Amino acid sequence: VIIKNARIASSKGILEANLFVEDGKVVALKKTISGSGEKTIDATGLFLLPGLIDAHVHFRDPGAEWKEDFFTGTRAALAGGVTVVFDMPNTAPSVDSQKILNEKKKIISAQAACNYALYFGASEANQNEAKQISGACGLKIYMGSTTGSLLVKDAVALEKHFQLFPKEKIIAVHGEDEETIKKYAEKYRAGEKPEHNKVRPPVAVETAARKAIELAKEYGKKLHVCHLSTEAEMNLVKEAKKEGVPVSCEATPHHLFLSEEDAKRLENFGKMNPPLRSRKDVAALWENMDAIDLIATDHAPHTREEKEKDYWSAPSGVPGVETMLPLLLNAVNERRISLEQVVEKTCENPAKLFGLKGKGFVAEDFDADFVLVDLKKTKKIAAENLFTKCGWSPFEGMRLRGSVERVFMRGEEVFDGENVFAKPGSGSDLFS
Ligand code: NCD
Ligand code: ZN
Ligand code: ZN
Ligand code: ZN
Repeated sequence: VIIKNARIASSKGILEANLFVEDGKVVALKKTISGSGEKTIDATGLFLLPGLIDAHVHFRDPGAEWKEDFFTGTRAALAGGVTVVFDMPNTAPSVDSQKILNEKKKIISAQAACNYALYFGASEANQNEAKQISGACGLKIYMGSTTGSLLVKDAVALEKHFQLFPKEKIIAVHGEDEETIKKYAEKYRAGEKPEHNKVRPPVAVETAARKAIELAKEYGKKLHVCHLSTEAEMNLVKEAKKEGVPVSCEATPHHLFLSEEDAKRLENFGKMNPPLRSRKDVAALWENMDAIDLIATDHAPHTREEKEKDYWSAPSGVPGVETMLPLLLNAVNERRISLEQVVEKTCENPAKLFGLKGKGFVAEDFDADFVLVDLKKTKKIAAENLFTKCGWSPFEGMRLRGSVERVFMRGEEVFDGENVFAKPGSGSDLFS
């Protein structure tokens, strides 16, 4: 296949070239087209991006397939230009042993429509197993309780994970401090409909980030702070980076594009952990975009029915895997972020951070996983067009300029702007 007249985006800029694909790989980028007889796709007017890598999703398989299963989740990913997902370990049973990790792989490998990697989950007692785990992209530590039962709240247990986990691998944290969360929940329990940002306040993430960074520094371990949401947390990460602590961080589309004001309107459909924050916190994330390594979705689907329960009973989490790229493209049009930065944070950096071979770049010898986007086309986010099984989005109703037109995986078209063609089982495990 030849993709002609492509404007290929990378962190270095835009390259106009014709892309030659053979056996699922990019074999050349050329200014001119020589040879004929090959299938040609004209990309005139479109930008070509590497397939996005969403390093934070919850596809609920196994254990809560009524919310999402690995096939519906990976289809939604492809419709959003995402060709690699990292699935979190808070499925049921929790992925906290090698045996359960292997069993989860067996279940989902037959369903995956895009490429994937799985996280291993820390428990209070599995430090030795975590240390030797094989086939996982990293260790996930929940420092505060959220969806699922994984939690490491004991300080000694937490320290032991940092002490023992291999230093070349990533330790990702859900950084909300359990003690702080508990204390505030107690305080608001009597109130009828409290604000989530008050029940799980900024101080909870600040406290956890401080602890995690301290441990990463002490033991020289690679720390990745998931879903940054506040200015104070951002500043801690920046300071740590300056001191040379091996820390990276990620921001989600919902923390970048929504605030606590939207939370009022969205009710539980805007309830997630950590919560939507103040405009000031949101502004701080945008101002420090250079220090944000990854943009990842924390796609965490729950059914409408579950979300319509009262505040205390409704689960936390919102879907986002298929709306991330349109939101970011719209922000490119608004000049809040550049296309180069989008590619850096959603393609290149995750590939580099996790050492994904052949991914994250459109270059010779890399896998032919890419997305064609139209920066001029406007589309409205509508529930009926979503692929996620949960069938709703906190961004519903938004009109976004910038659309995902076609998606390719290993040179094959897997999404044409309307339909996903990838078959269950066609995605590969990147940490097999
Ligand atoms: C996530 C979920 O539902 O799995 N929920 C959320 O609010 N973000 C878990 C998590 O990442 O905390
Ligand atoms: Zn299943
Ligand atoms: Zn989390
Ligand atoms: Zn999450």
